[in-house]
Amino acid sequence: MFLSVRVPSNCERNFSLLAFDPDGDEVRCRSGLVTISSCILSFIPAANSFEGAYVQQLVMEDFPRQNITLTQTNGLQTIITPNEAISEIPVQFALRLDPVVPSCTAGIYLPKFLPPTPANRAQLYTSVNQTLEINISAKANVSTITELLFSGPHNIVQTTSGTGQYTLRWTPSEQEDGESHPICFVVQAVSNSTKYQSELRCVIVSVGNATPLTATITTTASPPPVPTPETTTAVPNISNQFVVILRVKFSSPSPLSEGYIIQQVRLFLFYQISKHVKALDNCPCWV
Ligand SMILES: *[C@@H]1O[C@H](CO)[C@@H](O)[C@H](O)[C@H]1NC(C)=O
Ligand SMILES: *[C@@H]1O[C@H](CO)[C@@H](O)[C@H](O)[C@H]1NC(C)=O
Ligand SMILES: *[C@@H]1O[C@H](CO)[C@@H](O)[C@H](O)[C@H]1NC(C)=O
Ligand SMILES: *[C@@H]1O[C@H](CO)[C@@H](O)[C@H](O)[C@H]1NC(C)=O
Ligand SMILES: *[C@@H]1O[C@H](CO)[C@@H](O)[C@H](O)[C@H]1NC(C)=O
Ligand SMILES: *[C@@H]1O[C@H](CO)[C@@H](O)[C@H](O)[C@H]1NC(C)=O
Repeated sequence: MFLSVRVPSNCERNFSLLAFDPDGDEVRCRSGLVTISSCILSFIPAANSFEGAYVQQLVMEDFPRQNITLTQTNGLQTIITPNEAISEIPVQFALRLDPVVPSCTAGIYLPKFLPPTPANRAQLYTSVNQTLEINISAKANVSTITELLFSGPHNIVQTTSGTGQYTLRWTPSEQEDGESHPICFVVQAVSNSTKYQSELRCVIVSVGNATPLTATITTTASPPPVPTPETTTAVPNISNQFVVILRVKFSSPSPLSEGYIIQQVRLFLFYQISKHVKALDNCPCWV
C-alpha cells in the first residue's frame, strides 16, 4: 500500500485493498472491531469532509476455509476453525482530502486510466527470469499528468514513453519462484499547483514455473454411461488467457443415438503455481 493516497474532498472514491492469500485462505479486513466488507474502504463526501490528512489503520487477517490443525514446533496442536484468524498484518496509510475539484469525473482533473492498463485486481503471470511488462496509460483533459506512483517488488523498473504513458517491468529471480506479489499504482496530475490522483489499481503477479497451469477433464454422468474425456492441457499466456477445448467421446453403446441429450457441462477450474493449487473463485460453473 502507498504511504499516502489523495482524493478531492467532494469526490467519492473506493479504495479496494488488495487482499490475497496464495494458499487459498479467506482474507478479511477490519478496522478495530468493524469488518470492512470485501476489503473496500469507501470515502463518501459529507458536509464535514474537512481537508487534510487522515491516518487509516486496519488489519488484514486470514481465516481457514475449514477446520485446520496447526502443529507447533514443540508438538502442541491447535485446531483453528473458519471463525478464527490464523495470522494478521497491520495496514496503515494516510488518506489526504484535497480541496474541492470542479468535476469528479475521471479524465478531466482526475486522471483516467485507458486501455491497456490492467484492471484492478487483475492476476498476471510470469516466470523466473522472464520480464513482466505492465503498460499503463492515463489521460486528463484539464490537468497535466506528471507521474506514476507505484508500490511492489523493489527491483521494478519504470519507464515512460510520453505523457501518461508508463511501463513497469519486473524480472523475478529464483527466490521468488512460487510467490505472488502485489503491484499497486496511481497516476498523478497537476493543475494550478493542485495534485490529482487517479483511482488506485492493484494487480497480483504470480511467479510460476514453466508450466503454470494445466487443465484436466474428468467426466461423470447421471445416469451412466460416462463419457470419456480427451485430455487437454492449457498454458495461459502472460495475460492469463487460455483456451480449454472440451471434447468427450461416448463409447458404445452410443447413448447419443439413443436419444440422450447433454444437458449440463460443469467445469471446475483450478490453477497451479508451483506447489499451490487453487480453485478459481466462481467455479464450479455451469455451461
Ligand atoms: C464504490 O462502491 C460502491 C459499492 O460497490 C458503488 O456503489 C459505488 O458506485 C462505487 N463508487 C465509485 C466512485 O466507484
Ligand atoms: C471444527 O472444530 C470445532 C471446534 O473444535 C468443532 O466444534 C467443529 O465440530 C469442527 N467442525 C468440523 C466440520 O469438523
Ligand atoms: C476530453 O476531451 C476530449 C476532446 O476534447 C473529449 O472528447 C472527451 O470527452 C473529454 N473527456 C472528458 C472526460 O471530458
Ligand atoms: C535465471 O537466471 C540466473 C542468472 O542468469 C541463472 O543462474 C538461472 O539458472 C536462471 N533460472 C532459470 C529458471 O532460468
Ligand atoms: C507495451 O507497450 C509497448 C510499446 O507500445 C509494446 O511494444 C508492448 O508489446 C506492450 N506490452 C504489453 C504487455 O502490452
Ligand atoms: C489557481 O489557484 C488560485 C489559488 O488557489 C486561484 O486563485 C486561481 O483562480 C486558480 N486558477 C485557476 C485557473 O483555476
